[in-house]
Amino acid sequence: MSSQNIYILAIESSCDDTAAAIMHNGKILSNIVANQKIHEDYGGVVPELASRAHQQNIVPVVDQAIKKANINTSQLNAIAFTRGPGLMGSLLVGTSFAKSLAYGLDIPLIDVNHMQAHILAHFIKEPDFDKPEFPFLAMTISGGHTQIVKVNHYFDMEVIGETIDDAVGEAFDKSGKILGLGYPAGPEIDKRAKLGNPKAFKFTKPKVDGLNFSFSGLKTAILYFIQREVKTNPNFVQEHLNDICASIQYTIIGILIDKLKLASKQTGIKHIAIGGGVSANSGIRQALKDGEQKFGWTTYIPKFEYTTDNAAMIAIVGYLKYLDGDYADQSVMATARLKI
Ligand code: KG4
Ligand code: ZN
Repeated sequence: MSSQNIYILAIESSCDDTAAAIMHNGKILSNIVANQKIHEDYGGVVPELASRAHQQNIVPVVDQAIKKANINTSQLNAIAFTRGPGLMGSLLVGTSFAKSLAYGLDIPLIDVNHMQAHILAHFIKEPDFDKPEFPFLAMTISGGHTQIVKVNHYFDMEVIGETIDDAVGEAFDKSGKILGLGYPAGPEIDKRAKLGNPKAFKFTKPKVDGLNFSFSGLKTAILYFIQREVKTNPNFVQEHLNDICASIQYTIIGILIDKLKLASKQTGIKHIAIGGGVSANSGIRQALKDGEQKFGWTTYIPKFEYTTDNAAMIAIVGYLKYLDGDYADQSVMATARLKI
């Protein structure tokens, strides 16, 4: 198989990023992402605006990916696309585009599960990154999901813990909104946390049994805390913003690491990977790395550009499924709720 010359075009449009990538034998040749700025004005993703922006972006983004990879469409072996989970209107744009292009070029179409892709992004061939050994634990942390997954093999995955309410990315974004930060707030909280004292303010961690998570209580605790402090000092947030951000981030990281410790103990697995937008967070990256010394873990932290939504991760799943001959047919449908 390795002697084959396989080119995959991958398309991702599950939420508010329109992305396309070209992969050659497991290596990324181009990885283009168009972020949709429009949602910033609304403090969150507006589904109807997202699908409209995907429609505008998809042709130029795919075109750019092909040009940057310096190939032409006749060299493509297959087209991979995100089937779900995600916003229906957004998914439909990528799905329809992928279907028609695959039909036009008469090449296989490959459907990809977005959450599997966040995990399998670790298998993209990159010089300084080791691939995880099976079985490993993957914690997927994004704006829509928070899961701990036992990965037995590429397509043999088992969710062993997940959030019962908000995703961890929402905890960052909603806390940021309370503090008056822009959307999405995760990157700014991360930046400010580096300048603040993580122990300045204490927020109690939610008590959730087993490997499940809960983040909605934390958001409420932060809201009440801010309201109380602002009553006595109207400038409280401005005066303590970095400390507040550092304390929120510290609390969230504590919650995530506690659950990973428990999952590792319960399964006996010490190979641990993270994925999804929140795995861009410098604090969680450091905390995971520290786990190597503290708990004897071997950790896998994705390359920065493969953390938030991108099509390179869709391409690697497309490539692995291509090698298995696991294709979709033209009747495949976008699916908003798709399980791992
Ligand atoms: O995976 P992703 O791009 O989209 C979803 O599938 O949801 O994740 C987006 C989420 C947002 O909630 C954003 O605030 C968060 O990832 N995020 C971060 C950081 N960068 C992105 N959260 C904390 N720290 C960061 N550096
Ligand atoms: Zn995602």
